[in-house]
Amino acid sequence: MTKEPKRYLITSALPYANGPKHIGHLAGAYLPADIYVRYLRARKKDVVYVCGSDEHGAAITIQALKENTTPREIVDKYHALLQQNMHDLGISFDIYHRTSSALHHETAQAFFKKLNDAGLLEQKETEQFYDEASNTFLADRYITGTCPVCSYPGAFGDQCEKCGTSLSPEQLIHPRSTISGNQPIKKQTTHWYLPLQKYESFLREWILDNHAADWKANVLGQCKSWLDAGLQPRAVTRDLDWGVKVPVPNADGKVLYVWFDAPIGYISATKQWAADNQKDWAPYWNDADTSLVHFIGKDNIVFHCIIFPVMLHLHGNILPAFVPSNEFMNLEGDKMSTSRGWSIEMDEYINDFVKKENGQTMVDALRYYLTAIAPETKDSEFTWKGFQDAVNSELVAVLGNFVNRTFVLMHKLCNGKVPKLHSLTAEGTQLLDQIKETASGTGSLIEQFKFRDALFEVVDLARKGNKFMQEQEPWIVAKQTDDNGNILPEAQQKIDNCLHLCLQLTANLAILMHPFLPNAANTLCHMMKVVPRILEWENAGRADLLQTGYSLRAPELLFRKMEDAEVTQQVEKLKLKSAAVKTNAIPESPTPSPATKPTITFDDFSKIDLKTGIITKAEKVQKADKLLKLEVDLGTETRTIVSGIALHHAPEKIIGRKVVVVTNLAPRTMRGIESNGMILMAEDANGTLHFVGADVSGGCNVS
Ligand code: MF3
Ligand code: ZN
Repeated sequence: MTKEPKRYLITSALPYANGPKHIGHLAGAYLPADIYVRYLRARKKDVVYVCGSDEHGAAITIQALKENTTPREIVDKYHALLQQNMHDLGISFDIYHRTSSALHHETAQAFFKKLNDAGLLEQKETEQFYDEASNTFLADRYITGTCPVCSYPGAFGDQCEKCGTSLSPEQLIHPRSTISGNQPIKKQTTHWYLPLQKYESFLREWILDNHAADWKANVLGQCKSWLDAGLQPRAVTRDLDWGVKVPVPNADGKVLYVWFDAPIGYISATKQWAADNQKDWAPYWNDADTSLVHFIGKDNIVFHCIIFPVMLHLHGNILPAFVPSNEFMNLEGDKMSTSRGWSIEMDEYINDFVKKENGQTMVDALRYYLTAIAPETKDSEFTWKGFQDAVNSELVAVLGNFVNRTFVLMHKLCNGKVPKLHSLTAEGTQLLDQIKETASGTGSLIEQFKFRDALFEVVDLARKGNKFMQEQEPWIVAKQTDDNGNILPEAQQKIDNCLHLCLQLTANLAILMHPFLPNAANTLCHMMKVVPRILEWENAGRADLLQTGYSLRAPELLFRKMEDAEVTQQVEKLKLKSAAVKTNAIPESPTPSPATKPTITFDDFSKIDLKTGIITKAEKVQKADKLLKLEVDLGTETRTIVSGIALHHAPEKIIGRKVVVVTNLAPRTMRGIESNGMILMAEDANGTLHFVGADVSGGCNVS
């Protein structure tokens, strides 16, 4: 390991204050950071852990439209919720700030201004979609239209949610504004750009040369593919009225792009923390002896490894030392998604398991399972059954059981006091060695961001304790009594030796579990009647943490078993919730449905030339999952038609199919193929497309 830094600044991605966040977010960016920070604090390091709500951008304004309220109300409501949820789950931020604060606005503006004044940003005029009815430029998310790839009519200007293709608004067919429903026009606008392409070699050297050995492979891989694809100038301003105003004259109606201002939120949070604690914030961002570590989910890698570092570099700040990004956590066989109702929101979990029980055991249970299945190197999966198994067979049966047995026997056989260690057997010596090894092993794994493995080390130590206890079997030894029923002195010494060591092991477990399971560690301190200072990491590995003769409290519940009924109930709840979302789903944008089209005259109708046809050839279009290239026999001619039906019909199965074709539609080129006409399809409630046709030969008029 390289020399230890003088101080640490740890960040977790600022969550959007546009709704509750689920346990996948918790597992990705908050819990691992919290473990790391608790460990560093236990090592008495100078560490500050900052986070806060990301309160700008379209995520917020769109939620305001949905809830029929203002962005301000949205951020106030969800900022409070998120702050409370994180607190309830034991995420120990030093500050949870917000990007709508005045301090953040000033900080972000000063940052922008410094780069702009130094000539490091470029200004460019472009044409962008504009809604004349509402007098606003339209952010990509505010434009909807038909997806050019799968023909889904509700695609957004940045992405089609149906087929997942990333889009730009220009690619949408029949684009409409989600605000007015009107077709937007193109209008000139000026924006500031960060010329990322100029910093390619700087990034390559910093990431791919300097960090090739110490960054995670998933992070390096993403960085490399961004760099290899070629970096482009990146717009850092937007035409919007919600956000941080662009701090130059005549920039009315322009704000900083949310991904420009949000990461600066880490800096403003540090400033606020420093102001609240009479500290100096500057070295945390300016001194090379600071280790800056960003904990994020994988969708944030490019922002934290490419864009923000370039900003920091140009602004004269330090760069992150590590960006330990996680992959995603799935749920019961599907992607976790709040909008689809397939999620466990932190708030829901707290209501179902934490508040109800008025205890913290289920907070630690969740922290345990999420760490045990952390998606550190690949996507992982949360299942309620898996949760139950982990809690019952590891937390309760191994950790909880060891501590409980130790305390019960100590009360029963040693008068509730720490017994004396009379002598050390080979097994006892081995146990002490194992404690020492686990102490250093756990610490070094945490330092390498291998939290799963670190946690397994701790549980494994408890397992070794159980084994030791099982071999020493003090409850059997206690049967060696004299005629009065008193345990023989030699037997008592054996019992004392065993329980002394098991108690020292318990104290060590408290230290080692503390970063992961802070509530259980604190309960242990209470049981052992020791102050939490004992949890300092330098104490880990010691064999004299509890003094002989010291009287201890009765055992308390560290973890509780999860019942089958709870598992069934939660799985059921998840299914109901996602089903409710499906049936109540209000289309996110006005999608034209047949019933709502205005009346047309017969003349309008007769402009459409409809003919019957027979499919004679069909093949997949390369690099377009949804498209088939068809040859259709119309009696007098054969037409090439590109149709978005590939997900519903295999090409070899539709040869000879009778169809109805719109033959006088203007030709359109898709994926380089000119399509001359359109096949009529009927879409059922599941979104499956069926052919419409009559059993006649090709070329008949349809009217
Ligand atoms: N709000 C973003 C998200 O949820 C994360 C912002 S991280 C920051 O994906 F660095 F910009 F703060
Ligand atoms: Zn699509």
